[in-house]
Amino acid sequence: MGNKKFFTTPHLFTITVLLLFTQAGCKYDKQMIMPTTICDTAIVTFSGVVQPILTTFCITCHSGPNAFNGIRVEDYTTVKQLIPNGKLLGTITHSPGFTPMPIGRSKLSDCNIAKIRKWIDQGAQNN
Ligand code: HEC
Repeated sequence: MGNKKFFTTPHLFTITVLLLFTQAGCKYDKQMIMPTTICDTAIVTFSGVVQPILTTFCITCHSGPNAFNGIRVEDYTTVKQLIPNGKLLGTITHSPGFTPMPIGRSKLSDCNIAKIRKWIDQGAQNN
């Protein structure tokens, strides 16, 4: 009985207005409060930041004696060799002239790419 009366035209108007307000509230919350959009590139070391990213996304093909192109995420020297020739950044940013990495999978997030880029800009140290 109560339901029947509730869905009258004036009530539908109220519901619509309420919905609009709720939507606006959500948008506001996401932009102002949720910190997930912030990319922390303050400290980017090889062992603390870059290697864990490479381990997560590249280890299945770039590890151990059978690693593709001899690139092994557990071996800094093989990663370091990809810096002067631009291969690390070129492959993960899917730049023309490079085989996109990780091959056949989604591109790394902008945040992960930003972290690797900063580590390279700071000299790609074994830190
Ligand atoms: C599913 C397997 C696979 C994954 C995952 C993968 N790679 Fe590769 N990678 C390959 C293969 C195969 C090659 C050789 C292809 C070629 O030379 O064109 C290669 C070659 C490379 C090269 C050398 C490219 C060149 O031009 O010499 C780089 C650099 C590289 N990978 C980086 C990465 C990085 C960084 C990741 C993780 C973000 C990654 N790969 C993930 C399979 C993979």
